Parts: sequence; C-alpha cells; structure tokens
Amino acid sequence: MAAELAPLPLDLQNIESRSKSNPTEPAPSPHDFLRLATIMPDTLILGIESSCDETSAAVVRSGEETLSNIVASQIALHQPYGGVVPELASREHLRAIIPVVREALAKAGRSYADLDAIAVTQGPGLAGALLVGISFTKALAFALDKPLIAVNHLEGHIHAVLLEERQKGNHAVNFPVLALVVSGGHTHLYLASQIAAGDPGSGWVYENVGRTRDDAAGEAFDKVAKLLGLGYPGGPVIDRLAPHGDPTAVKFMISQMKHPDRNKRDSKTDQATSENPRPHFDFSYSGIKTGVLRYVETHNMRETADARHRALSAIAKPTLEDYLAHCDREVLNVVASFQRAVVDDLVSKTLTAARACEAATLFVTGGVAANSELRTAFERQAAMEGLPVFFPSRPLSTDNAAMIAAAAYPKFLAKQFAAADFCAEPGLALR
Ligand code: KG4
Ligand code: ZN
Repeated sequence: MAAELAPLPLDLQNIESRSKSNPTEPAPSPHDFLRLATIMPDTLILGIESSCDETSAAVVRSGEETLSNIVASQIALHQPYGGVVPELASREHLRAIIPVVREALAKAGRSYADLDAIAVTQGPGLAGALLVGISFTKALAFALDKPLIAVNHLEGHIHAVLLEERQKGNHAVNFPVLALVVSGGHTHLYLASQIAAGDPGSGWVYENVGRTRDDAAGEAFDKVAKLLGLGYPGGPVIDRLAPHGDPTAVKFMISQMKHPDRNKRDSKTDQATSENPRPHFDFSYSGIKTGVLRYVETHNMRETADARHRALSAIAKPTLEDYLAHCDREVLNVVASFQRAVVDDLVSKTLTAARACEAATLFVTGGVAANSELRTAFERQAAMEGLPVFFPSRPLSTDNAAMIAAAAYPKFLAKQFAAADFCAEPGLALR
C-alpha cells in the first residue's frame, strides 16, 4: 500500500515555522483567553478525521467558518459486506488521506504555511482507521512544526452544531446543553458546558448521563436494512422509504431500562453510586433488531429479502423508485414501524433526561440526526416544552473533519496541545 502513496507536497519541504507552542510558558489565565480570542481572529486549523469509514480533511477558521470540508466516503467499498470491514477501512484511509488533505487546502485557498494547528480524531473508533489519521497528522505537524491537537470524535459531533450556529451568527447558547450523539457506533447523552460561558478560549466539560447498553441506534438501522435486503448503510434508505409505509402497522417494542446499570449503580441498594450521583437515561436497541428478525421469519419474508438484495445490488446507484419497485407493502410497513419505534424512544428518553437535568438547550447530532422523522419529532416535542433544539446540517451530521477542527479551536486557544507520542484510543471516553 505504501508504494501507492503520492510523495508529500513540495511546500512541506520549505516551510517557515509559525508554531505558537512553547511548553515552558506558564498556563494562560482566563483573561489571556479573552485577549487571545480578540487578537487572533484568524486561527486556521486543519482537521483530520479517519475514525470509521470516512476519510475527511477540513480547514476551519476560528471555530466558526468552514473554508473547506472534504469527505471521501468508503460506502461503496463496504456495501457488499453489509457493514464496515475494519481492515479494508484502514487501507482505504491510507490511499485517500493525502489527496483528501490536498483537496481541503486547495478548496480553502490556503497553503500548509497558513495553518496555525493540525487536529485529528484520537478516538473512539476503529484502531487501524484511527492510526492512519493520527500517524499522518503527527508526521505533518512535525514536518511543518505546527501544534498538534487530539480531539474526541464525540466532542467533534457536538461541536458540529456549534460551528454551524456560529456560522449563522448565533453565538449565544444557553447552558447546560444536553447533547444526544446518535450514530452508527454511539447513542450517548452528554450534559455539556463551557467552563466560562461565552469565552471561546475556555474549555468544555461533558458529563455522560445516558448511553446505549448494547447496540447504537444507527447500528439497528443498518442491521434492519440488511435483514430486509435494503443494503448498507441502512439509515438513509429507511429514512426515505418510511414515509411510504404505515408506522402503526407493526408494534415493535423497545426495551425499557427498568434495572439500573450494574456498572454504574450499587447492585444491593439500587442507588446511584457516589461516583455517579445523577440518574442515567439508558437506551437499548438490540431487542428491536431481534424483534424485526422474528417478524421477518414468522412472516416468511426471508426469501424475498434475499431477492431484493440481489436486485438492488445489481443497480449502481438505486433511486427511490428502484427501492419502491422492489418493496411490497409489508416491507414498507416494517420499515415505517421500526423507524417510528426508534424515533419515539430516542425523543422520549432524551426529553425525560432534559427535564431531569434542567437542560436549557438540546443538541441532536451524529449520523442518525440526519433522519427526517427524528428531526420533525424533536422539533415538535421540544417546542411543546419550550426547549430550543439544534441539529447540524445533514452533511455535518455524519462523520466529517470540520467538526474536528471546530472542537480543536478552544483547545488551541487554551494551548492544549498533544504530545508527539499520543496514541489512538479506540474506546476513548468523553469527559
Ligand atoms: O456519525 P456517523 O457518520 O458515523 C459514526 O460515528 O457511527 O453515523 C453513521 C450512522 C449509520 O449507522 C447510518 O445508517 C446512520 O448514521 N444514518 C442514518 C441516516 N443517515 C445516516 N440513520 C437514520 N436516518 C438517516 N437519514
Ligand atoms: Zn461519528
């Protein structure tokens, strides 16, 4: 694979050092953060994301303007397997990373010398995939003598919302924010706060108040689509097909977490432990996946699902009409009923958590936040409670590097740079 890599760009070889890092300097005070934010209006950060099946690079100005955001998707590569194959993902990241970074700089109209820092996803994600982005970023930062910033992928999803709100001119967010990060790998609820509200240089703190005990919601969308012969990834297809079915046709149940999570609570007293005093609002989506499987089997839908899979695989880019031509009413009803059950569960648990945590603002982000029914349901039900709800645009809901560069900006102002020997952390928690 290495032989296929293009040589590093020429401008890497003769770069003027503009590094602002100096490990011997004392830590800046909050006063300094404000000063930094006002005297450095043009901080350019190159973000790099490779945690799963998208290779992405973006140039973002001061956490509030996306100059470029290039995403090379590997969907076509993984489609025949019905899910992401980790080894194939790593190899594809290796092939794509240099062209993607070059294109991000070209589209932004900037050179390597213009960058103030380079940020990369440290985790969570696939180990091999993360390693490609991290190794590339370390080499680039070393060659350019630029500061290196490590970003948590989940923090990136939260900052995708902030980036776009700032881009629209909305700089005021009321805290605490409750963020639902819902994707193919995650279904988490975080209470997020800026240490000094309104100060772009102040850090962010996150408290996990909910998570899935088993499958992520996006994983359930993907598995159900596979079961019905609809291909990969399942979320976007189910989203488009659901309005054509009856969401009340099949009653799919979602497990409700009556028992406290043994990892989080005292098993004898049933009380929250001192480390985790706040109640948790956990999710579970492996049951509904089994429910759909049972329905498919008891209604003899397996053979037609296989035939549908073969027919749709033979079409290069199936349109909505192609999907509809291969789906009977029963399948459309299953799709619509499944989506309704997941959406209702995500919305009701998140709003319950928002009430309990007295959240002032709601963020819904991650790949599943692209779902039309989920957006409409959140907008309607949050409005009834007077709770402002924000989503990223659809391109920024799924994995991208602009969110990584945006999350890196406060860290840049706070000089929270990563050591050259930092490692990929596939299970990295967000705090
Ligand atoms: O955030 P993301 O790109 O990657 C992870 O961090 O996992 O999310 C990908 C997930 C996949 O499971 C995909 O099926 C789901 O997001 N997804 C959707 C939609 N678009 C993507 N799920 C429901 N409706 C959608 N429109
Ligand atoms: Zn993601």
